[in-house]
Amino acid sequence: MSNAYYNMKVADITQETADAITLHLEHPEKNKISYIPGQFLTLIIPIDGKKVRRSYSLCSIPEDPYFSVTIKRVEGGLVSNYIADNVKVGQEIEVMAPLGNFNVKADANLKRHLFFFGGGSGITPLMSMTQSILKHEPQSRITLIYGNRDLNCVIFKNALSKLEKQYPDRLKIIHVFNEAIADATEPQENIGLLDRTMVLQLLENLKVPGYTQESYYMCGPEGMMNEVRDALQFMRVPSSQVFKESFTAPTTVEDHGADVSAEESDEIITRTVTIIYEGDEYQVEVKPDETILEAGLKADIDLPYSCQAGLCTACRGKCLSGRVHLDEREGLSDSEIDQGYVLNCVGHPLTADVVIEIG
Ligand SMILES: Cc1cc2nc3c(=O)[nH]c(=O)nc-3n(C[C@H](O)[C@H](O)[C@H](O)COP(=O)(O)OP(=O)(O)OC[C@H]3O[C@@H](n4cnc5c(N)ncnc54)[C@H](O)[C@@H]3O)c2cc1C
Ligand code: FES
Repeated sequence: MSNAYYNMKVADITQETADAITLHLEHPEKNKISYIPGQFLTLIIPIDGKKVRRSYSLCSIPEDPYFSVTIKRVEGGLVSNYIADNVKVGQEIEVMAPLGNFNVKADANLKRHLFFFGGGSGITPLMSMTQSILKHEPQSRITLIYGNRDLNCVIFKNALSKLEKQYPDRLKIIHVFNEAIADATEPQENIGLLDRTMVLQLLENLKVPGYTQESYYMCGPEGMMNEVRDALQFMRVPSSQVFKESFTAPTTVEDHGADVSAEESDEIITRTVTIIYEGDEYQVEVKPDETILEAGLKADIDLPYSCQAGLCTACRGKCLSGRVHLDEREGLSDSEIDQGYVLNCVGHPLTADVVIEIG
């Protein structure tokens, strides 16, 4: 994986809702950069003399003229509010090349039914996947269940309804609202929380026979995704058919921490880790109060990273020897953990023989 950086000019800005904007970014120097629908860009924003990185899922598709990312304000959030208040058309933004394992590769030979569950800004990767599948996988069908506080919070409302009209037999969108708006001129069918009961009720009527494969993708608030996961487990959907992307670290204790290939956890003390990256081998001393990523960056190794919270997998590496403790494992699936993958931004060496290969 090459750790490429680009400057992209903001060609246009769309106000999606009161608190969400879309930045349309030009391909750098007219060079097309490829990505898979569902992947994200890392925006690197200088704020108060410091460069701050945040991940934003691409809502466009690779053949669109621009890279588009939609940013929703987070209360008290540093970067989301900074971008919404300061970024202007014509400005250049530094970005890191698209990354991410939450994605869908369209394949015209497949005939599958994809169920997408989105909540709030979590619609962004699903928007890209929806457009790509509708365009390039003509036999497949998408059901999108999209939860929002109310009708006014729906990001891509018009674009989604246009797609539904364009592909009436292949795209079904179910909006779920926590609150009804009294004077709304548009229908507001499902009012309530997108919880396990509602998911089960909705799915009962949405299954369509004749598809060779069903897959489930979710991106939204932790609470919503836990409810969807519970409903799918109740329906005995194999975990290999369920994919999720988290924008924030989980607050529940059950999802935190993992010791990769550990029998019992050791003390976290200063240890040297071997990092293999782009053909070079580095010895890095990792102190107890820093992560493997922080130690690597301090040693001037240009390691890839984005969220620094164990969510996006930009910093993922494979642990070839030794044991690593992860403060957070949200971004990794059970099978990735079993295969020895680690996230350097939340990783600490537990043994003296840790070797991590990145890329
Ligand atoms: C893979 C990935 C893709 C992402 N894609 C998008 C996207 O397409 N659009 C988008 O708007 N955001 C997206 N995010 C979230 C984004 O990267 C930032 O985390 C978000 O914009 C908040 O950054 P901030 O600097 O404003 O807040 P911070 O200053 O980092 O955080 C302030 C507080 O808000 C909380 N917080 C952070 N993010 C959220 C959130 N999303 N919802 C509620 N509380 C939050 C934090 O826990 C903290 O307490 C994505 C994150 C990941 C990991
Ligand atoms: S930088 Fe995002 S998981 Fe490590």
